Order: sequence, then structure tokens, then C-alpha cells
Amino acid sequence: MDNDVLSPAEPRAAARDTAPDHAWWRSAVIYQVYVRSFADGDGDGTGDLAGVRARLPYLAQLGVDALWFNPWYPSPMADGGYDVADYRGIHPMFGTLEEAEALISEALALGIRTIVDIVPNHVSDRHPWFQAALAAGPGSPERERFWFHPGGGEHGELAPTDWVSSFQGSTWTRTVDPDGTPGDWYLHLFTPEQPDLNWNHPDVRAEHEDVLRFWFDRGVAGVRIDSAALPVKDEALPMLPEEPAPGQHPHVDRDEIHDIYRAWRAIADSYDEPRVLVGEVWLEDAARFARYLRPDEMHTAFNFDFMTQPWDAAAMRRSIARTLAEHAPVGAPATWVLSNHDITRPVTRYGREDTGFAFDRKRFGTPTDLALGTRRARAAALLTAALPGCLYLYQGDELGLPEAELPRDVIEDPMHFRSGGVDPGRDGCRVPLPWSDHGASLGFGGDDAAEPWLPQPAAFAPLAVERQAADASSMLALYRAALRLRREDDGLRDGVLAWLDAPGDVIAFRRGASFASVTNLGGAPVALPAHTEVLLASAPLAGGMLPPDSTAWLTVEPAGEESA
Ligand code: GLC
Repeated sequence: MDNDVLSPAEPRAAARDTAPDHAWWRSAVIYQVYVRSFADGDGDGTGDLAGVRARLPYLAQLGVDALWFNPWYPSPMADGGYDVADYRGIHPMFGTLEEAEALISEALALGIRTIVDIVPNHVSDRHPWFQAALAAGPGSPERERFWFHPGGGEHGELAPTDWVSSFQGSTWTRTVDPDGTPGDWYLHLFTPEQPDLNWNHPDVRAEHEDVLRFWFDRGVAGVRIDSAALPVKDEALPMLPEEPAPGQHPHVDRDEIHDIYRAWRAIADSYDEPRVLVGEVWLEDAARFARYLRPDEMHTAFNFDFMTQPWDAAAMRRSIARTLAEHAPVGAPATWVLSNHDITRPVTRYGREDTGFAFDRKRFGTPTDLALGTRRARAAALLTAALPGCLYLYQGDELGLPEAELPRDVIEDPMHFRSGGVDPGRDGCRVPLPWSDHGASLGFGGDDAAEPWLPQPAAFAPLAVERQAADASSMLALYRAALRLRREDDGLRDGVLAWLDAPGDVIAFRRGASFASVTNLGGAPVALPAHTEVLLASAPLAGGMLPPDSTAWLTVEPAGEESA
């Protein structure tokens, strides 16, 4: 395999070096593609790889460096594809492996790398290993790849532990033996359709290492590692301790997990252009989080600390400082994430009374001021694009799409069902994109396309790509301009941030030689620091003042005494 396949053929800006850039991931803009809802090439109502291929020019024009695809593998879709039945294939509703290979190389020809989603914690209950385990019965070697265990109580009727699923409810489901009698239980940290793998088993390790090579050999530049702090379990299967010490939780962030990622890093590093590991690591303890980013482990991990902050200058500034401080000792770049396919859209989140994010606080009918949320999301877009490190952009956020409040009968997300219907779940941020302001699926499919798999709210039509592309004041125009400026200024990569003195409600910092970003989160306009030029602003300046809930990017006199 020719490793040079990873070097973009044509850098999109003259300022970019033509040599393969092995450090691209330190300051990349990575666009998250939720294939099912991005673009529907065959008009059947479901997004697909043909749709993505047709829209690659849009992504190149937006100015992104890489695409991260949510799982595109064959799957019964019990959890939006995070229940993988075959890690080496493409779901037939999305296309074929040949199409995926074509997509990877076509994207690269436009200077865009590809990241695929790897799901190591669990497989689908339809995966051949789990089917074989069920068929082989208790005590069989096939069952050792999972966590099968007899129940407690007189007849084995009690779940082996009191662990709580990330989707609520128990983490155990009882099986029925081949002879029809109730049998052992199996562990699933998510839904019963997602049995957890036993990472102490050599087959599990070997299989995932082989899957990594499979995708790396097809030219993908990296992997996003799903639920990356969860795969290793305490073999003793203890009850949940009240306050587990770091590393002592029975199924979160166990110390042994790092061996897995060291082995993966060695594989990633064995390619001429090293591949990149990005972790989905939800951990509150900053020091424990940073351990995943040591030089021989992952390259980066999602920064959920910043994403979950409320719209509050002090909280956000603290989070930025904490993030940079926690990454520095391990030499890893930070990442900046405003949302993803699990999170309420920023426009909606920032338009609510509770502007932070917590899974357990989602409710139907939460009052939302979308105009306010949109102003803030625009400000947040510029704020995050100016911070040092990698920027993630979830599809549709560049259009300022709101979270859709879907009718209950169309919701598919298991989070909704496992909450007893209380939590609307995550489908509201997974609604098919509007490409045009008219037609059956707003340009998601062609003119005669089937209804999209989730209904698009009326509010999506004016936010369509076609409309925003023609409007210099649109969210799309703002993102395009921001990503172009970010690309042109080397000072906006992974480097030093120097705080500027600013009122409490304002977040202001310098980057590079002469760039400054100022965000006003307060209720009154504020004066801008001395500058020679306003490069970009998320809202019109009023008499030179920065209005509430907005960000301005400035050219300032070359740096003075500030320090990081
Ligand atoms: C991750 C994914 C989420 C999925 C879960 C289980 O958190 O982002 O969508 O439901 O893992 O795989």
C-alpha cells in the first residue's frame, strides 16, 4: 500500500506547504459527518456516501481539513450505528466499500482527510461473535469474549452487579439458554443490543488491531475512538463503590486501558504518514483525562469540559485556561467542540435559561429564544475558531440549525425510550440537512426524493445552504470567512494564547503576531481594545462598540509584554 496516498494532492491555499504535513492534526478543522442525515444521493430518504461525494466541493469551500464519519458499518441501527455488526463493511443503506474508498480518495484530492469511528467497547447483538456466544451456551469459549455471568439470588434472577447504563436502567440482560430455560446474564453499558466486549481476551485485542489496519490501509487518516474510557472492566465485577478513587471505578477509566491505546499508537505510527487517534473521553478529572494524551497514546481527545460550560464568561475562561493547562504537560493540542450528534444544537442550547449541557436535563418543550441562541452561537463559532488547537464542527452547525423538537412517534434514539419517554433523546440534532429552501426534503434528496428519515422542521427552509450561500450575513458566510482567516494566519494554529485585560463579562486574548479575539458575554456593549483592523465580527459593531453576545476578530499592534 502506498502511504503517500494520504498527502493531499492540491493544498487549497497558496500559503500551505505542499509537503505532507505530519502535524496537520494539531490545528485541523474537522467536520463531523452524520452520514444518515448529510445528503441523500439515491433519494430514498436516508443520507449515503453518494450524497457525501456529491457534496465534497461544499466541504472544500467551507475550508475543513478532515471529515469524521460516524459509524458507517453494517448495523441494525439500535443506537444509530454504534451497534456494529461488521467493522469492515459499509451499511448497505449508505453504499459499498468501493464507494467508501472512492470517497476517501476524492476527499483527499480536495485536501480533505478522513477519520472513521471505531467502537471498541461493544458490538451489535447481531455481530457473529455474539450470535456464536449465545448459541454456544454457558461456559463456552465463545462467551469469554463478552461478559456473561450467572445472576444472583436463588434462581439467578438478580443482575450480577448494580451498574447503571449510560442510557439509564441496568447494564445486564438475562439470556435464554438453547434449551429455553433462563440462563446467564450479559453486560451492556449501553443498550441490550450492544453487548460489551471483554478486553482481557486476546481475540478482542487482535480483532480491533486488525480493524485499525484495515481502515488505515484504505487511506483513512485516523480514527475517532468511541466511549474510549470504558472498554476495560474490573474482572471481579464488584458492586459500584460509593466514591471510587481514580482508576478504581469498575468500568470507567481503569488504569489497564492505556495498554490498549499504546498498542494502537504503535500501529498508527507504523505508517509513513502516521495515522491519528482521537478519543471520546468523558472524564471530569483533568489529570486522568490528560493521561490518554501522553506521547505514546492518543493524539487528541474531545474537550467536553468547554462544550458543557454555560454561556458565562468566567466559566468559559476558566475552562479554556484549565484545558490549556491540562494539555501542556503531555504536549497534546487541545480540541474545541461546540456540539456533536449526542448534544443539543448550540443555537438552541445558548437560547435557553440553562445554557450548559447535561444529558439528564433534556426535556420536551423547553422555552428557547432562537434569535438569542443564534447570536451566541455565532459568537461561540469565532471564539472557538480562534483558540489554539483543533476545531470540531458538527454538520449543520455551520448553518445555525436549531435542535428539532420531533414528534414522539418518529424518535428512534434509545435514550428516549430508556428514559421512559421523558428525555427527547438525541435525534433532534440528527435531522437531515436542508440544502435548498424547497422540494420534498429541502434538497437533502433530489426533487422526487422520498420523505427524509426524520422530518425537517419548517424553520430549516430559510437556513438552507442555497439561501445562506447567497447571504453575506449568514452563519455559513461567517464560518467560511472564519475558517479562511484561520487558515491564512499561522498564529491561529496550535500555539500560545495570551490573555488580554478585559472586563469580567469579556473573553479577550491574542494569538500570533497581531491577532486578537474579543467576545462579549455581558448585557451591554463594550469598547474594543486598540486595533488597526476589524477582520471579522459575529454581529455588526455599533459605533465601534462590541454588542452583547458577539465576537470580533481584530488586527492589533504586534505583541508587547503579554505572556501565555
Ligand atoms: C458514544 C457515541 C454515542 C453512542 C455511544 C455508545 O457516546 O457518541 O452516540 O450512543 O457512544 O456507542
